[in-house]
Amino acid sequence: MEVFSMSPTSLFFFFFFSIYLIHVLLRSFLLSYRRRPKLALPPGTLGWPYVGETFQLYSQDPNIFFSSKVKRYGSIFKTHMLGYPCVMISNPEAVKFVMVTKSHLFKPTFPASKERMLGKHAIFFHQGQYHSKLRKLVLRSFMPDAIRTMVSNIHTLALDFLISLEGKSIDNTFLALKTYSFNVALMSIFGKEEMKYSEDLKSCYYVLEKGYNSMPVNLPGTLFHRSMSARRQLLRIVADILNKRRWQMKLDGRDHHHHHPHDLLDSFMTDKEGLTDEQITDNIIGVIFAARDTTASVLTWILKYLAENPTILQAVTEEQEAVMAEEKRSLTWEDTRNMPLTSRVIQETLRIASILSFTFREAVEDVEYGGYLIPKGWKVMPLFRNIHHDPDIFPDPTRFDPSRFQVTPKPNTFLAFGNGAHSCPGNEMAKLEILVLLHHLTTKYRSVSKRTI
Ligand code: HEM
Repeated sequence: MEVFSMSPTSLFFFFFFSIYLIHVLLRSFLLSYRRRPKLALPPGTLGWPYVGETFQLYSQDPNIFFSSKVKRYGSIFKTHMLGYPCVMISNPEAVKFVMVTKSHLFKPTFPASKERMLGKHAIFFHQGQYHSKLRKLVLRSFMPDAIRTMVSNIHTLALDFLISLEGKSIDNTFLALKTYSFNVALMSIFGKEEMKYSEDLKSCYYVLEKGYNSMPVNLPGTLFHRSMSARRQLLRIVADILNKRRWQMKLDGRDHHHHHPHDLLDSFMTDKEGLTDEQITDNIIGVIFAARDTTASVLTWILKYLAENPTILQAVTEEQEAVMAEEKRSLTWEDTRNMPLTSRVIQETLRIASILSFTFREAVEDVEYGGYLIPKGWKVMPLFRNIHHDPDIFPDPTRFDPSRFQVTPKPNTFLAFGNGAHSCPGNEMAKLEILVLLHHLTTKYRSVSKRTI
């Protein structure tokens, strides 16, 4: 039986058509290959299989590890840490590319334990529409226009905090200051009325935070397990606050969607697209996480630098005394806008201490930058501290010199609050609570170094 047959003419055409097709395909392949030369990975070493260079990182000061790599390979280099191949970047243009102009190609990434502790709906883990919505709600509570009404409450919290320390000897300044930053965070989230929950919230949160960097093994007795049950307790307290607030809103006849939000919880509850209770709670825990240790840490470094630089401390004290020269009254928002030297001390501390030395992103697809390939799935770490300590950007970088901020830093060189899509929405709030505490410290106590704190 004849299954398949072709006439000689068809065979001839088939043969030439095949040759033509192969020629076209080969040409387009060669052209595209020539147009897109195979990109090289950034310079650097990946270390041992699996562990990479994790031991090198942890066996020395991480800052020395990074700066010696920068010296050797330049401002973009590859390494392998904590189980992931990474590209480190430490020049302002590369940071702008990753965090601002092409931020959609680099998603934020965190260890699994942190995501489960904070809650999967928290702002840090998202991109796109949900992230923009949350950012809008957080920003409207922490923009200058919103926080100017909080000055008198922060003023009271700062005074109460300092009075509570009087006569006590303080072993750990950072731990003490965490109480202040925690109270300010709670006030900005829940308003003054809900401060009665603060002790319960605090004790749950303290257990929860211990598990942030733990192994995510949820077995009785593990740190992770204890933290997860503290989280559940925290959820119950927040649910209670939410219910009371809804009830109060109904009693007051307040419109859920249109009234002007008083605090972050209000802002979350009055979103017309609606956040679920779980989304609200995850983001409340997230904001406490973002606000508390960061601000307390910066305050601790400021106290250290002021104690080491008596001339600057004297000038700050004079500036603060001048704010209240004429009368005894509560601090106002306008007063806090009139503290240029103290503000520069905050900026210089943020630069020199670089409390967030770097952040993590992950390439969502293969990305080309500066002639190098950043492969999909690789972590990308903008090294803020290296930029803040680059002598070409900040001359004599280890010297504490607030006057350098008399000139505005060039774009993408001062990254204490990040930049772009995920930059810190609480930066004005952080500066405000630091200014208020410094005001009371310098005007009401004789000397930063000899005082109990
Ligand atoms: C001096 C204190 C603070 C410092 C140094 C700081 C620093 C930062 C940095 C560098 C980022 C960006 C991280 C990244 O891009 O991966 C960030 C994000 C964030 N910060 Fe702050 N922060 C401070 C205080 C605060 C405060 C007081 C709040 C809230 C009131 C806050 C809320 C947030 C939130 C919600 C994000 C995530 C934003 C997003 O993913 O869109 N921070 N912070």
